[in-house]
Amino acid sequence: MEDGESSDGLNGHNYKKLFSEEDSSGDEQPSGSEQEQRQVFVSMVRREPRVKNKVVAYCLAVLAIALLVVDIGLGVFYNKLTTGQRTVMDINSELIKLQTSHKNAIQRRDDAKKELASERNHQKQQKWEMENLVRREKDFKEQLDKVHMEIVALRSHMPVLEEGCRRCLTGWIFMNSMCYYLPFSDTAVRKTWQEARRFCQKYKSDLAVIDNNQKHLAITELINRFQNPSRLIAHSGFWIGLHDTEVEGIWRWLNGRNLDLPFWNDGEPNDLYGEDCAATYPRENPFKAWNDAPCTYHLRWICEMAGKPFEM
Ligand code: BGC
Ligand code: CA
Repeated sequence: MEDGESSDGLNGHNYKKLFSEEDSSGDEQPSGSEQEQRQVFVSMVRREPRVKNKVVAYCLAVLAIALLVVDIGLGVFYNKLTTGQRTVMDINSELIKLQTSHKNAIQRRDDAKKELASERNHQKQQKWEMENLVRREKDFKEQLDKVHMEIVALRSHMPVLEEGCRRCLTGWIFMNSMCYYLPFSDTAVRKTWQEARRFCQKYKSDLAVIDNNQKHLAITELINRFQNPSRLIAHSGFWIGLHDTEVEGIWRWLNGRNLDLPFWNDGEPNDLYGEDCAATYPRENPFKAWNDAPCTYHLRWICEMAGKPFEM
C-alpha cells in the first residue's frame, strides 16, 4: 500500500476530489472546515461497507431462502417424482405379475379343457364298453339259455343214445328199433344212388325203406334238425331205398314192396331229367319231403339196418 493511501484505497487527493464533486453536484452547502469535511467523509466512507455488507447479507439471506425454497420444492418434486416412479414401477411389476398370472390362468384353463376333453373321451369309451358288455352279457344269457335247453334235450336223448350204443354200430342212430346211418357233415363225400347203396351193404344194411309214418316223421325231424339252411335244397337230399328203375312210374322199395304211402313234394315224381331214384329232403312240411332225381346225382344217403337184440 502506497503512502498517504487509506486502507479503503482513498488518499487525501481522492477524497478531496470526491468531496468537491459532491459539493458541486449537490445543493447543500459545505459545512465546517476542510478538516471537518474530511472527518465527515471518512466517517461516511467507513460507514458505507457496513451498509453494503448488510445489503449483501440481506441478498444472500434472500438468495439462501430462495434456494432453500427451491431445494425444498425440488425435494418435494423429486419425492413426488420418485413416489410416482415407484408407483409406476409398482404398477408395472403388478402388471407383469397380473400378466403372468393371467397367462398361467389361461394355460391352466387350456390344460383343464384338454383334460376335460380327454376325460369325456374316456367316459365315452367306457360307456361304449359298458354298452358292449351289457349286450354281450345279454347274448351270453341267451346262449346260456339255449345251451341249457340243448342239455335238457340231449339228456332226454340219453336213454335212446345209450340204447343206440348197445344196439347199433358206432356212429349209427337208434330209432324205432332200427339203426340208421346219415352222413350229416357238409364236407362228407356225396355218392350216386348205387355207390350209396354199396356203402350201406358193406355194413350189412341197405338204403332206408321208409314205409310207415312213424319212421318217416322221425327221419324228417332228424334231417331237418341237421340241415344247413345256406345249402341249396337240390343239394340237400338223402338217397332212400326207393326207385322206378324197373318200370318207369312204378316206385318200389328195396325190400321188393311197391310204394303205398308216398311223401312226394308237389309235382313229384316228374322224371324231369330221367329221374328213377328217390331222395328225401329237409322240408317244413314232412309230408312233402320226396323228389325223384337222376340216380347218377351225387347226394348224401340214409342206411338202415335192424338193431342188435337187447342184451342185459
Ligand atoms: C330237380 C328235379 C325236380 C325239380 C323241381 C330239380 O332241381 O333235379 O328232380 O323235380 O328241381 O323243380
Ligand atoms: Ca323230380
